[in-house]
Amino acid sequence: MGKIYAVILAGGKGERLWPATLALPKPLLPFGGNGRTLIKATYDRVLPLVGKGNVYLVATRELAELLGAELGLPREQLILEPFGKNTAPAVGLTALVLGELEPAGTMLMLPADHRIDDEEAFRRALLAAVKAAEEGYLVTLGVRPTYPATGYGYIEGAEPLFEAEGFVVHRAARFVEKPDRHTAEAYVSRGNFFWNSGIFVWKFSQILEEIHRHLPGLAAALAELKSHLGKPTWEAALREAYSRAEETSIDYGVMEKAEKIATIPVSFGWSDLGDWHAIWEALRKDRENNASVDVEVFGKDAAGNLVFSLARKRVGLLGVKDLAVVDTPAALLVAKRELAQRVREIARGFAEREPDWTELYKLDRNGMLEVMENFPQQCREALARGREVILPRELSGFERIVVVGMGGSGITGDFLGLALPGVEVITVRSYVVPRFIGEETLLVGVSYSGNTEETLSAFLDGLRHTRKALGISSGGKLAEICQKQGIPWIEIPKGFQPRAALGHLLFTLLGALEGLGLQAEGMDEGLSILSRMAEELSPRSTPNRAQGLARALQGKIPVIYGAAGTASPVAFRWRTQINENAKQPAFSAELPELCHNEIVGYELAGELFPQIVRLFLRTSCDHPRVALRVEVLKDVLRRRRLPFLELHGEGKTPLAQALSLLYLGDWVSVYLALLNGVDPTPVEPILELKERLAQEKWEPMG
Ligand code: F6R
Repeated sequence: MGKIYAVILAGGKGERLWPATLALPKPLLPFGGNGRTLIKATYDRVLPLVGKGNVYLVATRELAELLGAELGLPREQLILEPFGKNTAPAVGLTALVLGELEPAGTMLMLPADHRIDDEEAFRRALLAAVKAAEEGYLVTLGVRPTYPATGYGYIEGAEPLFEAEGFVVHRAARFVEKPDRHTAEAYVSRGNFFWNSGIFVWKFSQILEEIHRHLPGLAAALAELKSHLGKPTWEAALREAYSRAEETSIDYGVMEKAEKIATIPVSFGWSDLGDWHAIWEALRKDRENNASVDVEVFGKDAAGNLVFSLARKRVGLLGVKDLAVVDTPAALLVAKRELAQRVREIARGFAEREPDWTELYKLDRNGMLEVMENFPQQCREALARGREVILPRELSGFERIVVVGMGGSGITGDFLGLALPGVEVITVRSYVVPRFIGEETLLVGVSYSGNTEETLSAFLDGLRHTRKALGISSGGKLAEICQKQGIPWIEIPKGFQPRAALGHLLFTLLGALEGLGLQAEGMDEGLSILSRMAEELSPRSTPNRAQGLARALQGKIPVIYGAAGTASPVAFRWRTQINENAKQPAFSAELPELCHNEIVGYELAGELFPQIVRLFLRTSCDHPRVALRVEVLKDVLRRRRLPFLELHGEGKTPLAQALSLLYLGDWVSVYLALLNGVDPTPVEPILELKERLAQEKWEPMG
């Protein structure tokens, strides 16, 4: 007998659990008992059967990363789908990947977010199912119905096959879709109809064979995909495979058609927790049958209500019965509990008001979207241009680089540091440079316009201490100063917003510095990731991940976290891009420092500022203790029901990971601008300030 793998499948919109599922994916809702999320309860329940190393999670990247972090699963145990396409492709992908590891293995397919009361019986039923799978059956656990549910599909059981672990395994005659009330009543009275639990057990080899028989598109896609396993071409091939595969459920695509299917009738107390009524049923009630999670409820003449508040608000109930009251920072639901199935209509009603992106693109009057899309190209051109620059040999032999620059230009210094890990790079955003600067320092003045007074002042200040210096701008006074003082000046193209010219500033510099023997690490990797992202995130792929993130941040106050030395500059860039493009408040903070102050503010955050959404930007190069801190912080946030998101950089090198996170953030900020109804390009307040200051005559020190 091969190994047994527990595969937790997560997906689905959880529309009937609106609005909670706007804030958190359903598996992260705190209804798993003992303060646990649903997915944690699912995980804990199956762990004794298979052990930590054999629990896998299948979901789209963002969801998998979020849920994987909740369970503390290593990345190798996440099976990432390029996008959601119902359960059949997910099952096929899993069987392909895990079947390669263990061809004789058996897979327990577990939905991430169900309720099960008798866990011991559940595990025994799974063992019985494994036995049937060994006989070549595709097995489903069939729940003995306790009422004529119309919200579940049914399985008709046929003759018994054998007994195992105290359960009787039956041949399954057929699967039937959700019935109407009348049919459901007939099923229940027949006694051999069971609810389809969505919990399946089969051998990898068997399910792949059945996919081959019944889903030819998926089978062909998997066959092609197989040759890419473990290769760098995997992601592109997977995307291609998913596009070719049939979008269907494993129930409909395979189980309804397969010959050798079995069901094990169980009655361990099960629900798919699909709506607020089911959640109410699953929770403990007070004497008036009111159930609540994370809220202090005070009721008078109130009974049978369900109350849940993500922001932990106090809720008063007066003279109301059998309601579902669900509160999140973004939306509030008040519904009759008996109509819980219809909450989907509300969710869809709002969703139909999804932004009309084509209409919103018209707000981009100054072409920021196009500049964004061309960013990888901008970086490539800049690199080529930089490599043409010949810097005088006298510039070499420095111990550190000090970059002076503000705003969109200043960020160049931070990224230079990430790209050149062997060199100390310090970014100065001020009128003066630190006193330690001497001839061993290479001073780099970076100002896109060439006219920013702080940069000019700091550059001139620096020039009094070192002559090893160069300037980079599209022109302006910086060019004049360099020319007058005989200092190398690198020209970059005009016509951009400074913050949108980061590719020109950074990559031209990197190319030019190669001439001094400085070789950046991760440029090729970074550039190829950027090109792929340009395709995935541009308006041509609407809707996309960046748009989804922008929607998640709309009306919120983003607070972006990154680790010192890795993602911290990217967090700062996210913040400034959201400020400048989307014209809204955003803040950033650095790990580990924020663990010594900011976290105390969490105590009242939910009450005072429920609009704050924290965003962790992560890279695999973060210090391991910082990574651990993030895990603890996420626990703290979850306990306090404070919303957060987590994003991981792509690629291996620090530069590639930082660039991928930066580019994602840039896109998010532009889409957020459009959602906010503003043109991303103009930055009037910055210009106004610059003009006001220009009126007060002042000569930078020279
Ligand atoms: C505007 C922008 C600003 C500028 C900053 C400094 O797009 O990004 O943050 O970068 O005002 O100006 P420059 O870059 O011209 O030195």
